[in-house]
Amino acid sequence: MSGQLAQTLRAQLRLPVMAGPMFIASTAELVIAQCRAGIIGAMPALNPRTTAELDADIARIRAAVGDAPYAINLVAHKSNSRLEADLEVVLRHKVPIVVLALAANADLVRQLQDNGSLVFQDVARDRHARKCAEMGVDGIIAVGAGAGGHTGDLSPFALLAEIREWWDGLLILSGCIATGRAVLAAEVLGADLAYIGSPFLASTEANTQPGFKRMVVEGSSKDVVTTNCFTGVNANFLRPSLLEHGLDPDNLQQRAGGGINIDGGGDNAKAWKEIWSAGQGIGAVKRAEPATDYIDWLAADYEAARKAMGMAAFERENA
Ligand SMILES: Cc1cc2nc3c(=O)[nH]c(=O)nc-3n(C[C@H](O)[C@H](O)[C@H](O)COP(=O)(O)O)c2cc1C
Repeated sequence: MSGQLAQTLRAQLRLPVMAGPMFIASTAELVIAQCRAGIIGAMPALNPRTTAELDADIARIRAAVGDAPYAINLVAHKSNSRLEADLEVVLRHKVPIVVLALAANADLVRQLQDNGSLVFQDVARDRHARKCAEMGVDGIIAVGAGAGGHTGDLSPFALLAEIREWWDGLLILSGCIATGRAVLAAEVLGADLAYIGSPFLASTEANTQPGFKRMVVEGSSKDVVTTNCFTGVNANFLRPSLLEHGLDPDNLQQRAGGGINIDGGGDNAKAWKEIWSAGQGIGAVKRAEPATDYIDWLAADYEAARKAMGMAAFERENA
């Protein structure tokens, strides 16, 4: 097992899992349910409609989960007009973990760390991971192929091996992890934590329409289409959702280097809100249910996988 931080975080968890923050979908209630069930909960700062609502949501999360680690995702990009105000709230609450997305810089990383937060950043390439390490981040989230939202395109076997060769800090694997067996597989590949997004789209606490939850429960990898047509960067969307909006999933217009717009504007302003994103791992999601029920199942599946491999239970490892 790798560094001290990984051990400290894992010792606070029921299983080595962190939730991926999801635009629109993650709510304070979802974060609270995730933390109470023993994983790291996470939510984008932009999900509450205003900075004042973000302030109230973080206060509610803190009151509900106490010392349990939770994360807020900040989009550190010039197109995020709320960055300065949201950052002030995150600093004031001393949020335990801040996940930075896009264009983070060393000054921002240091400012958050000096204030007591751990700073994680997601990457899809070894080259980007090295830049993050130079910036001094505490944790690297490696996003492999098939992930929900903006996806990577590398096999996790390649991406994790390349990063682990030189990075002995906290390493988290993201992309299609939806079962306990997959959580264990992520650890075997060298990850300290598995990062899980799409399965929580079907959670009762998620801000997702019933039709979205149904598509996640009924869908599998064949229903997931990768396109850059909405944001200029590859993201995974649900095929039935594209069809419902009159789009041909097999003939989507590819954008040529249009850059990224966090409002999800691009060629179709309905992306994220009405045209739904999910990753290739949704075949494992069988029910729309409270997050705690999914995490209970995940924990049982994880322990069964450990047992099948002749490993001791996770709790005993931490004892
Ligand atoms: C609908 C949706 C919205 C997402 N929005 C964000 C976001 O705002 N910020 C972010 O860092 N990651 C975002 N993600 C990515 C997740 O945090 C996580 O990396 C991803 O879901 C992991 O892959 P999985 O969905 O296959 O589990 C989003 C994912 C989905 C499915």
